[in-house]
Amino acid sequence: MIEFQNVSKVYSNGTQALKNVSLHVDTGEFVFIVGQSGAGKSTFLKLITCEERPTAGEIVVGEQKLTQLKRSEIPYLRRMMGMVFQDFRLISKMTVYDNIAFAMHVVGASSREVRKRVPYILSLVDLQDKAQCHPRELSGGEQQRVGLARALVNNPRLLIADEPTGNVDPTLSFEIVDLLNQINKRGTTVLMVTHQHSLVKHFQRRVVEIKNGSIVADSCNWEARHD
Ligand SMILES: Nc1ncnc2c1ncn2[C@@H]1O[C@H](COP(=O)(O)OP(=O)(O)O)[C@@H](O)[C@H]1O
Ligand SMILES: [Mg+2]
Repeated sequence: MIEFQNVSKVYSNGTQALKNVSLHVDTGEFVFIVGQSGAGKSTFLKLITCEERPTAGEIVVGEQKLTQLKRSEIPYLRRMMGMVFQDFRLISKMTVYDNIAFAMHVVGASSREVRKRVPYILSLVDLQDKAQCHPRELSGGEQQRVGLARALVNNPRLLIADEPTGNVDPTLSFEIVDLLNQINKRGTTVLMVTHQHSLVKHFQRRVVEIKNGSIVADSCNWEARHD
């Protein structure tokens, strides 16, 4: 599903965010990405979503070689992905329902499909009663469940979550990861960045640790790398 071959990223100001990273993630895996602030975790995810392009190396996502992807093809790549952010990024003027419906309209879904799908997705995250609320009327945990519903509504093959529990209290963050787990069991590949060791410990999934731009530990092979 995802292949990084000797990938490096140097930002235009000279910061080297990733150094010679190689990694393979299979379809259907659930991977926690951990590491200190500034280690390169978000950069790693942004290279997958094509928000940033690598300075060196090759990245394959699905069947796509990202270095060969034209700018105009990026929206098509993103259709296979759902993204969840630490700061939720909901549209404050829209209701919960409309936030999710909007994500479907953007990719050309019909009104009929939207009417059928949105209630189903809301029930999946247990927010059917909040459909007509605005984001400010919800708790952090509820807002993040809306974020998750929006990420899932177009049935992505890959779910990318950058510290999705960073603004949610600890007990609710277990609920969020529980949901990600259920989604993963239905076949979606999940990559999640987190700082919370309690989550990583509890859920017992593959853990990739990034330090100073390099992968220093990967529980799938227990082989430390120091490039
Ligand atoms: N757009 C950018 N321009 C320049 N430097 C950046 C940019 N984004 C991130 N960085 C730097 O790259 C390094 C890795 O950042 P990031 O991937 O955001 O780390 P993490 O998500 O692990 O906290 C940091 O030193 C950060 O300051
Ligand atoms: Mg980050």
